[in-house]
Amino acid sequence: MFDFLCKVKEHPHVTDDYMLIQLHAGKLAEQARPGQFVHIRIPGLEKTSLRRPFSIYNSEDGILSILYKAVGRGTEVMQSLQPDSELQVIGPLGNGFPLDGSGEPLLVAGGYGVAPLYFLATRLNRKGVLLVGGRTAEDILAIDKFKELGWRVVVATNDGSMGEKGFVTVPLLRELESCKAAGKEVEMFSCGPDAMLKAVGEMAIKSNSKAWLSLDKHMVCGVGACLACVQKLHKPDGSTWIGRVCSDGPIFEAGEIVW
Ligand SMILES: Cc1cc2nc3c(=O)[nH]c(=O)nc-3n(C[C@H](O)[C@H](O)[C@H](O)COP(=O)(O)OP(=O)(O)OC[C@H]3O[C@@H](n4cnc5c(N)ncnc54)[C@H](O)[C@@H]3O)c2cc1C
Ligand code: FES
Repeated sequence: MFDFLCKVKEHPHVTDDYMLIQLHAGKLAEQARPGQFVHIRIPGLEKTSLRRPFSIYNSEDGILSILYKAVGRGTEVMQSLQPDSELQVIGPLGNGFPLDGSGEPLLVAGGYGVAPLYFLATRLNRKGVLLVGGRTAEDILAIDKFKELGWRVVVATNDGSMGEKGFVTVPLLRELESCKAAGKEVEMFSCGPDAMLKAVGEMAIKSNSKAWLSLDKHMVCGVGACLACVQKLHKPDGSTWIGRVCSDGPIFEAGEIVW
């Protein structure tokens, strides 16, 4: 883990709501693995505000990228950062997705949950399908980037403004059934709102597949010290324990999570 003062390289809008911040992050970027996150101190809010956690969207040649939306004070201040401004970043944090599994990879994303899944798609040794859902077309991000990597993309929006109308779990069930009919093993990777993760996890358990779910909890320290991000989890023997999403996760296998 590193604590770096990173310089902003570029900071463009990717949609009206979302921005991509690219940071010169040296060794922090080199060591980052898909599913890990960084914890950022927002310049100007150091005395009044905590760090903010963000998934790593990409890491290439020492440049670490984050895809984010302004939802409150910290991210609003972050939006105003210009190239060459500096910000304090700790990371890479958390466990990351396993990369050595097998089976057809089905990536299931909701909103900014697409961020860690894009990094994963660049590093997995096999290609599969990205299933991405959102409320409207505005929430559907980065799909051309997945297509460039050779991934098939299926979109679902609640209002039908892009792809099919409804929840992303509907096309996911279809993909699962078609893999099953073809005798293909499946491995799922998912990041997004809790309701979606829970549904993905239940489908995985029912179909005897593995699903790696990235949990999103409010965080304070980001390194396992404060217990702000606790989650009840199953042990293999059926008993339960309390884990910390920041340091024991944020990725957990579906069967581990007690919802
Ligand atoms: C592991 C992890 C990875 C994340 N990755 C990304 C990412 O790639 N892109 C991105 O845009 N955001 C991501 N987030 C969420 C991001 O951390 C929050 O949006 C940010 O902390 C909000 O800070 P703020 O000061 O702007 O908002 P605040 O003023 O702190 O809060 C504004 C609103 O956002 C809600 N909020 C704050 N934190 C979270 C959270 N963790 N989950 C859900 N709602 C929250 C608050 O309840 C409140 O309603 C991630 C969170 C975690 C835990
Ligand atoms: S945020 Fe402090 S223990 Fe996880």
